[in-house]
Amino acid sequence: MTIKQTTKLRSQAWFDNPENPDMTALYLERYLNYGITREELQSGKPIIGIAQTGSDLAPCNRHHVELAKRVRDGIIAAGGVPLEFPVHPIQETGKRPTAALDRNLQYLSCVEVLYGYPIDGAVLTIGCDKTTPALLMAAATVNIPAIALSVGPMLNGWHRGKRAGSGTIIWEYREKLAAGEIDYDQFMDAAAASAPSVGYCNTMGTATTMNSLAEALGMQLPGSAAIPAPYRERGQMAFETGRMAVETVLEDRAPAAIMTRRAFENAIVVNSAIGGSSNAPIHLNGLARHLGIELTPADWQRLGHTIPLLVNLQPAGAYLGEDYHRAGGVPAVIAELIRNDLLPHPDAPTINGRTIAENCANAANLNEDVIRPLGKALKAEAGFIDLSGNLFRSAIMKTSVISDAFRKRYLSNPDDPDAFEGKVAVFDGPEDYHARIDDPAEGIDENTILVMRGAGPIGYPGGAEVVNMRPPDALIRRGITSLPCIGDGRQSGTSGSPSILNASPEAAAGGGLALLENGDRLRVDLKAGRVDVLLDEAELESRRAALAEKGGYPFPEAQTPWQEIQRAMVGQLDEGMVLEPAGKYRAIAQS
Ligand code: FES
Ligand code: MG
Repeated sequence: MTIKQTTKLRSQAWFDNPENPDMTALYLERYLNYGITREELQSGKPIIGIAQTGSDLAPCNRHHVELAKRVRDGIIAAGGVPLEFPVHPIQETGKRPTAALDRNLQYLSCVEVLYGYPIDGAVLTIGCDKTTPALLMAAATVNIPAIALSVGPMLNGWHRGKRAGSGTIIWEYREKLAAGEIDYDQFMDAAAASAPSVGYCNTMGTATTMNSLAEALGMQLPGSAAIPAPYRERGQMAFETGRMAVETVLEDRAPAAIMTRRAFENAIVVNSAIGGSSNAPIHLNGLARHLGIELTPADWQRLGHTIPLLVNLQPAGAYLGEDYHRAGGVPAVIAELIRNDLLPHPDAPTINGRTIAENCANAANLNEDVIRPLGKALKAEAGFIDLSGNLFRSAIMKTSVISDAFRKRYLSNPDDPDAFEGKVAVFDGPEDYHARIDDPAEGIDENTILVMRGAGPIGYPGGAEVVNMRPPDALIRRGITSLPCIGDGRQSGTSGSPSILNASPEAAAGGGLALLENGDRLRVDLKAGRVDVLLDEAELESRRAALAEKGGYPFPEAQTPWQEIQRAMVGQLDEGMVLEPAGKYRAIAQS
């Protein structure tokens, strides 16, 4: 059934349609049954859905259950009617086999709600990694006015007098555990210290990245991304967001008018300046596809690679979420970019009806060690590079996290400073890696390149965050704490590992990583943007034929119906890992 808009507000097609009194009565009576009045539903007040992502199963976003009260207050204060509804929970670290599997499921379910119920506009309660792209994608497909609200990061974690950042301290202390410097309980205590309050990861992981980019895209109010979850400003921002949600309906500010190609180009630049997660290209490229905009890893390199790193947050830097907010958050970063003519489209519109420059150009930087002025940038070039070669068409690398030690070991040949070679140790998924990495018989040494395959959207449904592989404990004890890693999976945004990841197509989709054998030599040339196995085409062809004979690269059976459904229709990481058939549905609220 298609519900046509008969009056100014979409919801009136349900609640006040004199041409169809029996359906109106049916729609109306059940919403009255908890005390909402006919007047509220029939007097033309915008009905604002609050897409609730918080729950006990989704602790990063759980504080949205509280914040929604202030969102409701704001909606009512502006003359709207709030209707809160749950969306499928996503907890990045709690969902097996991986939370990324559920991004498209949350997207689908939210599309159905926004399309199928009497909602004129929506507040998208974003936070934990995948909840931000999933809800923005849903708003893009339905294209009803929508505004995002971050739940905000946790307070800074502290451990032994030092800032303890989400994820980052776990990678760091896992090495200490491997080296025998701490025991199991000390490891768990360090992890707990990094999570001192409600909110999402306090590092510049995928959550802080995607929330910052939701602001850079113009989809949430200026300053909203960085406010820590427990701060009073967070509740105040929830109230203002509720108010603005009503205005966006009255002014008909639909997502497709905000999230234009110009907005995405701004977001790519902001992502570099903040040192954003390697998951950002996947999510933004996917979001763009739901708006009919083609965004590629090459766009990320072209627009983002030479942008300097300004935000000094772990894992690339030193500070955490509270520091980011106190220094001025996203508006202060954007102001610095505008001052230096680095933001491509300062005139891009945003959700409050003002341009991004009007929102941010005069924002003050209150701590120049946390948000660096251009002259004191942490790295000259903080964006991603897009690599290709004889094994895949695209993979990205976050060059801002290449450490001095890594550079010295792999990128210091005076004749060839941007390239290195090594023999590969190949792992088929994370279980295989864990089983074999510490086995001395594997012969893994400092000249080894670790390869993870079978970890893409099809092979490990959703794409596993496993490409940042720790070296064998024996190497760590010798002081070698990272090896070059390449893979067709993803990696956690909280990881500081300079991996080559998101290789597309993945092994399970016919990608060339499936052809590698232990001991093959790989050459990585960052300047040329190439990763090649040093084998001739005849050898690759014969391996390809042998693999085809065996029925292709094997991957485990699906464990749930959704895994099977998604595997059958999901695209590759470079193209945003979207459900391919969903791409043709655009602006369906108007249909
Ligand atoms: Fe949810 Fe990091 S695990 S935000
Ligand atoms: Mg993650």
